[in-house]
Amino acid sequence: MGSPQVPPYLLGLRLTGRRVVVVGGGRVAQRRVPTLLAAGASVELVAPEITPSLEGLRDRLAAWHPRPYRTGDLDGAWLVQACTDDPAVNGLVAADAEAARIWCVRADDAEASAAWTPATGYVGETTVGVTSDGDPARSAGIRDAIVDGLRDATLKARHSRHKPTGVALVGGGPGDPGLITVRGKQLLAQADVVVADRLAPSVLLDELAPDVEVIDAAKIPYGRALHQDKINELLVEHAKQGKFVVRLKGGDNFVFGRGGEEAIYCAAQGVPVTVVPGISSSIAAPGAAGVPVTHRGVSQEFHVVSAHVPPGHPDSTVDWEVLARNGGTLVLMMAVERMRLIADALMRYGRATDTPVAVIQDGTLPGQRAVFATLGTVADEMTAHGVRPPAIVVVGEVVRVAAQMGNLTADIGRDP
Ligand SMILES: C[S@@+](CC[C@H](N)C(=O)[O-])C[C@H]1O[C@@H](n2cnc3c(N)ncnc32)[C@H](O)[C@@H]1O
Repeated sequence: MGSPQVPPYLLGLRLTGRRVVVVGGGRVAQRRVPTLLAAGASVELVAPEITPSLEGLRDRLAAWHPRPYRTGDLDGAWLVQACTDDPAVNGLVAADAEAARIWCVRADDAEASAAWTPATGYVGETTVGVTSDGDPARSAGIRDAIVDGLRDATLKARHSRHKPTGVALVGGGPGDPGLITVRGKQLLAQADVVVADRLAPSVLLDELAPDVEVIDAAKIPYGRALHQDKINELLVEHAKQGKFVVRLKGGDNFVFGRGGEEAIYCAAQGVPVTVVPGISSSIAAPGAAGVPVTHRGVSQEFHVVSAHVPPGHPDSTVDWEVLARNGGTLVLMMAVERMRLIADALMRYGRATDTPVAVIQDGTLPGQRAVFATLGTVADEMTAHGVRPPAIVVVGEVVRVAAQMGNLTADIGRDP
């Protein structure tokens, strides 16, 4: 069929509503069918048996013919995928397709195949397709390199028609720069202005191009009450100058991050807002220390509580009595300086003195450390170990589960 020396002619097929026949119901079909459906194709499956994943897609198929392939099945098709595990059947499908001038992809024999499926990736509005002389592993590797490069903007798409506008509230994750989302990193790389917080991963700021204006929100010289107003104004002011502004915070902007206030202010000023969720330290820091915030048979719930004011403080809206009685996992943020008062309140309201507690400081950062104690001892242990913010305190039986994960390895994806 094709010669390996002659490169294939790459096309972007627009399949919406067009009949595509997939012959075979195994692992190859399982990979091809979702992509064809995502491209809008009207997919007909011919296979005596199909995998559970394909079963799950049945509602979205135009038809499934639960029988072997028969000549005539390709009538009216624009494209066919021959992906049975029987070369003779695939050969027959390919021959029928050739006779009918229908493009056929043969999964078992690249050399005998009229068409190849490129290794495909999607980045925003861009589709990347790679073929490498019928070598799918090489194609996939190149595809990954291009897609990763476009996503983290190490490959610059200079002439994009779609430069984002307005303000993006981007969750930077708990601290390790590898724990921001792909979308977050992509938008960060397109920013003209970044308004960053103290807990936003600083390594990400070091990676920004020199012409990006970085505003350290912690250093904005205003009194406490005016501080947030000033940040809101800065976001809007820059966005209205046509700059794309990223508001980068630690964790998730909507978890004690005042993201809601910023989004409302921008909306009121007519500035479009994009929200990119982040991995909140409330879950990530315990997780990184081997403490699952829920565990089957141990805790069905977890409560994330801001402890920026102590129990009984007039500004506190937290019902510590209910939390103490409830028995689920408590995840306390901003609690370091008030932990003695909090532990006393929880014990006074009925939580057992020997309830296990974990304190995780600098979760996911190189200096991460965890202190394990009980409600009765945690305040003294924190003092003894010199625990400093930022730290997450986990109260509840899930803390014991950490001890069963003795072999928990360091995050292997982490930069050395
Ligand atoms: C104002 S809150 C912001 C929370 C953030 N929006 C989030 O979703 O993680 C600040 C608190 O988050 C917690 N925190 C943030 N990063 C942390 C980290 N790397 N390790 C432990 N705690 C962290 C601490 O309790 C800190 O006092």
